[in-house]
Amino acid sequence: MPAPRIAPSILSADFGRVREQVREIVDAGASVVHIDVMDGHFVPPLSMGPPVVSALRELDVLLDVHLMIDHPERQIADFVKAGANQITIHAEATPHVHYTLAAIRDAGCLAGLALNPGTPVGALEGIELDCALVMTVNPGWGGQKFIPTSLEKVRRVRELIGPDADLEVDGGVDASTAGPCAEAGATLFVAGSAIFGTDDPVAAYAEIAAAAGA
Ligand code: DX5
Ligand code: ZN
Repeated sequence: MPAPRIAPSILSADFGRVREQVREIVDAGASVVHIDVMDGHFVPPLSMGPPVVSALRELDVLLDVHLMIDHPERQIADFVKAGANQITIHAEATPHVHYTLAAIRDAGCLAGLALNPGTPVGALEGIELDCALVMTVNPGWGGQKFIPTSLEKVRRVRELIGPDADLEVDGGVDASTAGPCAEAGATLFVAGSAIFGTDDPVAAYAEIAAAAGA
């Protein structure tokens, strides 16, 4: 299985100084940064787009772009151009999942497929991907509580995708939920409020990393 990594989500960062905040966590060891893109349709809020990806490109990290948008196939080229390294789309967001993941890979990025809490694991069947993302809350907002039944889903997803792909968990991941997620087969741990919502993001990062075995 891939080595465990933490992906701090900038959704909970201070947008007035997001690059400095991310740099502190990168200096503390983070090699992935998670960027949540929301369109006001697939999920109610609006968040950020390609310019934010460009603004973080100067950091030496994997930029993990999570597209919570309808028709992601229309936006892939812009995110690739902005410097994304991994792009994850939602299984529920387009009838063209296979096509879109192939387009992401053809553009030289890693391709991920995300499942909402209510989306069956079978949505991953027959799809070649680098990362399966299990939403452990409903998408759209940071700071929600981890849905406990997600752990069983993570186990089933790990069985389905085999040992080689990353399995990302997103939502409510903190020092208490990261360990059980790792045991269930997760390798990439998104944490937003549990890092940037605290007084000491570097210490919080270290605690979650230790819990995840990263
Ligand atoms: C939610 C986003 C998450 C969010 C997680 O829709 O996909 O990446 O930032 O936030 P926390 O870690 O606070 O649950
Ligand atoms: Zn996310």
